[in-house]
Amino acid sequence: MTDDIAATFEPRVFSGVQPTGNLHLGNYLGAIVKFVALQETHPCVYCVVDMHAITVFQDPAELQKSIREVTAAFLAAGIDPKTQIVFNQSRVHQHAELAWVFNCIARLGWMNRMTQFKEKAGKDRENASLGLYAYPSLMAADILLYKATHVPVGEDQKQHLELTRDIAQKFDNDYRDRIAELGFGPRFFPLPEPIIQGPATRVMSLRDGTKKMSKSDPSDLSRINLADDRDTLAQKLRKAKTDPEPLPSEVEGLSGRPEAENLVGIYAALAGTSAAAVLGEYGGSQFSTFKASLTDLAVEKLGPVGAEMKRLAADPAYIDGVLASGAERARVIAEPVMTAVKDVVGFLR
Ligand code: TYM
Repeated sequence: MTDDIAATFEPRVFSGVQPTGNLHLGNYLGAIVKFVALQETHPCVYCVVDMHAITVFQDPAELQKSIREVTAAFLAAGIDPKTQIVFNQSRVHQHAELAWVFNCIARLGWMNRMTQFKEKAGKDRENASLGLYAYPSLMAADILLYKATHVPVGEDQKQHLELTRDIAQKFDNDYRDRIAELGFGPRFFPLPEPIIQGPATRVMSLRDGTKKMSKSDPSDLSRINLADDRDTLAQKLRKAKTDPEPLPSEVEGLSGRPEAENLVGIYAALAGTSAAAVLGEYGGSQFSTFKASLTDLAVEKLGPVGAEMKRLAADPAYIDGVLASGAERARVIAEPVMTAVKDVVGFLR
């Protein structure tokens, strides 16, 4: 059934990244590298989700800097802003409008299951913003506003994608007759497929292989930032937690060794190969040897991205131009979809 539904929609990729602090290797390998690959086969819409960012307070000047930084990372990684759409979310007001409609579609029970809200709100849930709670509904709006069929993300976004499908499905069910009557059918929204593949869908902290690498970890040693220079990167990998055993020769040997598994996964993703192939080469090696090779590889792959980000940071006018032009093109897709949603729901306009 999913295939039938997907088949009635033109393929389109949508994904977003929050402008909240430094981008790290998890963002890069889990998401941005895939964004770059998908532009070869699909029309893509890549969004700097500034409205998501303010669900937790952001210093305004820092937010503006971060929006430009994420945009620079997209471009430095190889996304072509001429053939694809790159923009910041708040410039296209339909995101907020559709999110409101979806707030009225999504059920409290669904939202209460969102593990990321629980993690982010922590113990002091009463003090979390309403926006943080409604966050996944805005994310569903981001995706469905463009009727996107494919969404490249890291493993941590899987549950939000499931919710997006539930919202799409419920909207279509609730308004089935109206959708048919207005000739928008048989389906109004696609059921978007997450693209979560490869050896680095969940890059872990360098200090603790059971914790996700994240922007919010207080220790900068826990993550590799895209902007890190060679020395910083080498130091972080040297200090990365490991265990005393040499690397195994088979993937099965990584089980119960989260730090080893993480470093092998990072190597595989950077080299564009599999964990099995990496172990084929490094099985039996000590971590000191492996870490030295990983540092060289990381510098080779990330160095040019970091350098290009720096170059772009010196040209904010260019970045702003990319975002303005992207938003204009995003609106061309978003506006008719939102207008149709208003007609379906029964708003007068
Ligand atoms: P964000 O900004 O936290 O992260 C951006 C992307 O990076 C991925 N990622 C990781 N992948 C592997 N290992 C990690 N340690 C790691 N950390 C982060 C995330 O899975 C994500 O793909 N809610 C989203 C942003 C968003 C969005 C959207 C995504 C808003 N609207 C619509 C897709 C479609 C988020 O907070 O990502």
